[in-house]
Amino acid sequence: MCGIVGIIGTRSVAPLLVDALKRLEYRGYDSAGVATLEDGHLDRRRAEGKLSNLEAKLSDSPLGGHIGIGHTRWATHGVPNETNAHPHFSTPVAIVHNGIIENFAELRQELKANGYEFATQTDTEVVAHLVSSLTKAGREPVAAAQEAISRLRGAFAIAMLFEGEDDLIIGARNGPPLAIGHGEDEMYLGSDAIALSPFTDSITYLEDGDFAVIRSGGVDIFDAQGQKVARQAQKSSTGAIVVDRGNYRHFMQKEILEQPEVVSHTLAYYLDLANGAPRQIDSSIDFASIKRLSISACGTAYYAGLIGKYWLERFARLPVDIDIASEFRYREMPLDAGDAALFISQSGETADTLASLRYCKGEGLKIGAVVNVRESTIAREADTIFPTLAGPEIGVASTKAFTCQLASLASLTIHAAKARGTLDEETIAEMVHGLMELPRLMTKTLKVEQDIVGLSRELAHATDVLYLGRDTAFPLAMEGALKLKEISYIHAEGYAAGELKHGPIALIDEDLPVIVIAPYDAVFEKTVSNMQEVAARGGKIILITDAKGAAASSVDTLKTIVMPDVPAFVAPIVYALPIQLLAYHTAVFMGTDVDQPRNLAKSVTVE
Ligand code: F6R
Repeated sequence: MCGIVGIIGTRSVAPLLVDALKRLEYRGYDSAGVATLEDGHLDRRRAEGKLSNLEAKLSDSPLGGHIGIGHTRWATHGVPNETNAHPHFSTPVAIVHNGIIENFAELRQELKANGYEFATQTDTEVVAHLVSSLTKAGREPVAAAQEAISRLRGAFAIAMLFEGEDDLIIGARNGPPLAIGHGEDEMYLGSDAIALSPFTDSITYLEDGDFAVIRSGGVDIFDAQGQKVARQAQKSSTGAIVVDRGNYRHFMQKEILEQPEVVSHTLAYYLDLANGAPRQIDSSIDFASIKRLSISACGTAYYAGLIGKYWLERFARLPVDIDIASEFRYREMPLDAGDAALFISQSGETADTLASLRYCKGEGLKIGAVVNVRESTIAREADTIFPTLAGPEIGVASTKAFTCQLASLASLTIHAAKARGTLDEETIAEMVHGLMELPRLMTKTLKVEQDIVGLSRELAHATDVLYLGRDTAFPLAMEGALKLKEISYIHAEGYAAGELKHGPIALIDEDLPVIVIAPYDAVFEKTVSNMQEVAARGGKIILITDAKGAAASSVDTLKTIVMPDVPAFVAPIVYALPIQLLAYHTAVFMGTDVDQPRNLAKSVTVE
């Protein structure tokens, strides 16, 4: 992960680098640093922890210079301290790096044998020493950088700055994204276009294997074969994006509350809201003819895909395989070139999801991507994008991207059912109507927040929490558990309610809160039986259901959260809200860092 940035400017660049890094903090936030070149000499400031620590350092001890590079880190090799923070120096080069150098141990041995000493535990330091050794062997900076990059294995995006070279930044990409920004007499480089949005909207995306020589007058790009290539600059739409917390205490809170709006934006892409009908969507996937759809994703996006599987199989009668992308990419499953694969990703940069996409592409499948960042690598490499219009999601815990992914998948289900002729017009109209009602139902649901605040106080004392659900509430149970553990650090598990008696029931005692997600639907009574089993063993039940469910459940609960009555098809989208709010308020009550929980990063570009 990590975010990198570089600027060749006409003004003092250190504050600009920090400004860009602020937009990249979602990629990692355990340490940060900048290096600039002033009068030909390299200097740097680095700090452990959040970017604000680096800002404080720079204000005490400013850095001059019109050219520089910066980094915000998510540690892979070496603990997150100042020594391991980037940029790394080895005369005459300064380097920032995102990714993993897989052959770092062997390069380290070689460099040690040549007299290089290692001050850090990072894999990045080997790149700095390798470039340094090549310059000492007589290579010019550009040639040294190019040769060093050719010796690296792994996934990386790198930027380099050289002592005495006040008009040169080198960029190289092999895996994680890297964008070049074109300004007026200034040039930029960054992990994404959002980082560069305050400076320019003219962006060239590097392809895998590209090596870029950036000077104030422009950029020369060479492909993996060393051939000079022309890569078109594109107008980026990210300039309009305001990454602002407004009056909210956390981005996560803002993002939870804006879900009715962003879900309606997403639905408007797929549905003709005026006429209550599905829109024709441009798709290279022929849903009528494919025999199987293979879905891969990670984390929350994977749970969205699991719910999509229930919908696509039930309503479109389309068999769906779904995998966690890190497993899928190495599983060597048989695939049929006549079929299609769907990848779900908020960031569009998740390394395992991208690798799975490339694997399926190699097998000849048609590729669709449910993706939030339209300029991302996954979006660019897919045959068809099925967008989510969630806007930038800053809180590390995914909320609005999840419900927008569900809105896209629900719309795609209707599209596929229509194409495959599995539903009559009346049922399709009812499903579309259900989706159109979502913004209203979600707004109404957000009113349960007060009930949830009280409950969160109780939950904050728990050491473990169990979430149960059946049918589409089962993936939601796993999503609820993920949300709680990542931001409150309370251990939580999500289980299929019917699976309880096959093991996890052993955990139940009077200290274990059991959150049951159970709209009053076709499997409600089955879930009530499972609640009885929990109650009989003294478990503390928190039931999330509707008025009919509350009336029909004969089980004593610690608390019942009563939701609006919603059509079964859209229930997982609406029921996502109380589980997000519960995790959020529990974390707030516990005083954790809600938007940037420990050890995590928003965009996972390493495997
Ligand atoms: C959890 C969360 C992660 C992401 C996962 C995939 O709240 O945000 O589990 O869902 O890392 O990320 P994307 O969707 O960017 O591929």
